[in-house]
Amino acid sequence: MIVSRYADQEHQKTVSNIMFCGPSLDYLTLPLLNPLCNCITGLQVVLTTKYDCMEQEVISMPRIGDKAPAFKAITTQGEINFPADYNGSWVILFSHPADFTPVCTSEFMTFATLEKQFNKANCKLIGLSVDGLYSHIAWLRTIKDKIKYRDMKNVEVTFPLIEDITMTVARKYGMIMPGESSTKAVRAVFVIDPHGMIRAIIYYPLSLGRNFDELYRVVVALQAADAFKVATPADWRPGDDVIVPTAGSCGVAKDRMAGKEEGVECEDWFFCTKKLPKEKVLDAVLEH
Ligand code: BEZ
Repeated sequence: MIVSRYADQEHQKTVSNIMFCGPSLDYLTLPLLNPLCNCITGLQVVLTTKYDCMEQEVISMPRIGDKAPAFKAITTQGEINFPADYNGSWVILFSHPADFTPVCTSEFMTFATLEKQFNKANCKLIGLSVDGLYSHIAWLRTIKDKIKYRDMKNVEVTFPLIEDITMTVARKYGMIMPGESSTKAVRAVFVIDPHGMIRAIIYYPLSLGRNFDELYRVVVALQAADAFKVATPADWRPGDDVIVPTAGSCGVAKDRMAGKEEGVECEDWFFCTKKLPKEKVLDAVLEH
């Protein structure tokens, strides 16, 4: 098996070409007189042995903890150089299947309406689809001029929408899933931190619109985890108790169970929580 990388050498996991190679045989059937039946039967003779290779594209994707793959792109707000232009900000880079489609339209209207809320949490939004720039512009104008969804209308999308007709960026980020569609990006969400590291990835299929409250919760929870060195339990929201990092030694486990760590409540040595007031979380997240 030969593996050859051809994209983005600086990044560890990108699209690779994998060649599956193996011997293949060519046969020739020669006539042969069979003395038992006094008739001609066929005999296959191996003529040659070839070495055949079948090339298969393997699409790999950046993972949580990786550096976000860099790219330059044309967007509805001008050219961007990612992630350099976004140094110091959290970013949600998200893809959608196509312009002028209903689920995407409802998503863009919702995200545009919530943009200020994300910006206050130091988080910028960047959209992408494999359509061209003029299609993007026409679609965003139509949304503003004609579309009403829930209580939203006259919605102006002011965050950049990348044109990616060549699928260059979509491929770098593993947004094309051929089982779902080979010409459209799925609904991918990459949450990228101010150092350009990928911190969360969420994928949805074409038919399922995203939950933007959840995306905001993810951004806030990641920032709270960083600021207070804690983890956030199931369905956590600011104001809920947080998880104290698991004891890393028998001594700490014993102290915790003996109630020696102030403010820390333990169900068992590995499951300890503490209070983290909502105002403290919001101060940390919204201080920018
Ligand atoms: C939509 O956004 O409505 C959509 C896009 C692609 C496939 C299915 C639905």
